[in-house]
Amino acid sequence: MKKILDLITEEVTRAFAECGYQEKYAKVTLSNRPDLCEYQCNGALAAAKEYKKAPFLIADEVAAKLSGNPMFSAAESVKPGFLNLKLDNAYLAEYLQEMQADSKRFGCSPAGHPQVIMIDYGGPNVAKPLHVGHLRSAIIGESIKRIGRFMGHTMIGDVHLGDWGLQMGLIITELKERQPELVYFEETYEGEYPAEAPFTISELEEIYPTASTKSKEDEAFKEAAMQATYELQHGRNGYQALLSHILNVSVTDLKKNYENLNVSFDLWKGESDAQPYIPAMVQKMKDDGYAYISEGALVVDVKEETDTKEIPPCMILKSDGASLYNTTDLATIVWRMKEYHPDEIIYVVDKRQELYFTQVFRCAARTHLVEKDTRLKFLGFGTMNGKDGKPFKTREGGVMRLERLVSEINAEMYRKIVENETVRMDEAEARETARVVALSAIKYGDLSNQASKDYMFDVDRFTSFEGNTGPYILYTIVRIKSILAKYRSLGTTVAGAVILPAKSESEKALMLEISRFSAAVEMAFLETAPHKICAYIYELANAFNHFYHETKILAEENSQVQAGYIRLLMLTKGILEKCIDLLGFSAPERM
Ligand code: ARG
Repeated sequence: MKKILDLITEEVTRAFAECGYQEKYAKVTLSNRPDLCEYQCNGALAAAKEYKKAPFLIADEVAAKLSGNPMFSAAESVKPGFLNLKLDNAYLAEYLQEMQADSKRFGCSPAGHPQVIMIDYGGPNVAKPLHVGHLRSAIIGESIKRIGRFMGHTMIGDVHLGDWGLQMGLIITELKERQPELVYFEETYEGEYPAEAPFTISELEEIYPTASTKSKEDEAFKEAAMQATYELQHGRNGYQALLSHILNVSVTDLKKNYENLNVSFDLWKGESDAQPYIPAMVQKMKDDGYAYISEGALVVDVKEETDTKEIPPCMILKSDGASLYNTTDLATIVWRMKEYHPDEIIYVVDKRQELYFTQVFRCAARTHLVEKDTRLKFLGFGTMNGKDGKPFKTREGGVMRLERLVSEINAEMYRKIVENETVRMDEAEARETARVVALSAIKYGDLSNQASKDYMFDVDRFTSFEGNTGPYILYTIVRIKSILAKYRSLGTTVAGAVILPAKSESEKALMLEISRFSAAVEMAFLETAPHKICAYIYELANAFNHFYHETKILAEENSQVQAGYIRLLMLTKGILEKCIDLLGFSAPERM
């Protein structure tokens, strides 16, 4: 289905052309004075110069051409030369009727040229518990993946585990000190390694920080860890076996955590999966003359003439030949291109890594790891702060684990739900409802901000059922569900009923919001900006609640009018539910 704004623009364009003016002047926008009109065109003001005519004369002519057009109930020229437009109520009702007939997409057409887009998000580090720093990547990435998929693109989400480097050596070394008798440390061992890991996830999560602290105080320990890292990376069998255990135990735990967040990945690849691609990649960079030795290290220049600040060379190998975070990211691009040939790769990573990604992307382009038209996009997100404006911490001031954050919000939500006298539910339903609503609070609280900005995680505000919050959106959906249930219980049916032309201002306002659904989703995709969907559903929910407070729906006596309202409610609910699904959460039956 065409977007409503495009349909309006087509009519206005035709009117401009018929009056002898260039089409480029027929630009229509949402009105910035909704009290006066719904859409507006200011093109006559710009055209005035070219045609040496007073703008209002031009606007008058165009308005006259549009009068009688069934799309508009008003097309007025207003001095000094604005064209104010109002949609005809019957036309709008028909448009919505068509949206509703398309029960899965609500008239939002998929992209004409579907693309393959890989999305690198999550980025957890093996053996380290997820903390709030990982929350944003997971939430934003998941939403972008869902939006892209809805637009018809092939979206491939890759978690890109941090499973390489010194952290593995640290764990191995600490484990060796604790349990030297384990067969993994026997260098000459040639048998099978045990299937069962020699540690649990909680042990692993304790081993890593202990080892990390030790390495900072104890030089010999650090050396041993570096040696272990080296041996692991050069294929020592026992260490490879330990790495698989670390991975398995960690990934099982990570999957559980992500599942609780409604986040899932198509690929569970990690930094270690890129290692086999490094030697050939490095060799080629050397052979092609891009990589050279500078101060012992192998680097590729990535400066560009137009740079206003210094962009240092991208380091490929350290002076001891060891690979780096960069090397891994570049080699990851190699296998991604080889196996999936993406049109675009989007990285959802903390914005503090922006310079780093600039170097990596330029290096990849310059050394032809990607094709000329492959887009590498960095979507940097800001920090989640506490009420004190500093990075979010526990009450005691420590790093907040994700699990703890989620369970604290769940508990707060549970309290609110149990306190609510109007809806009585048993323990199990209350717990499950609290979980669903809490997730909406966390995700909407995050996604409603432009990703690149820092934001304040305010538990009280985010969990409120009023204002621009996830729970408010869910509350609106639940309200509609309850009206629909009551309507059904009256033994009535909407079979054959259609959405009727609006009979009130608030109904019209609701219908106008509904008609903008596809524009909102398309924009959110084009700008990789889930916050545009949040802004849209907030407006939509407000418009619905306004309409609801002003309209007797269940008490309406004319059954046709009533069935029309119900159809309108069903469409509103469908769109709200689709949008929250794109954001990565869902609504309960009641709350
Ligand atoms: N594991 C990294 C971190 O915790 C994030 C990974 C981001 N993705 C990437 N391709 N480098 O900082």
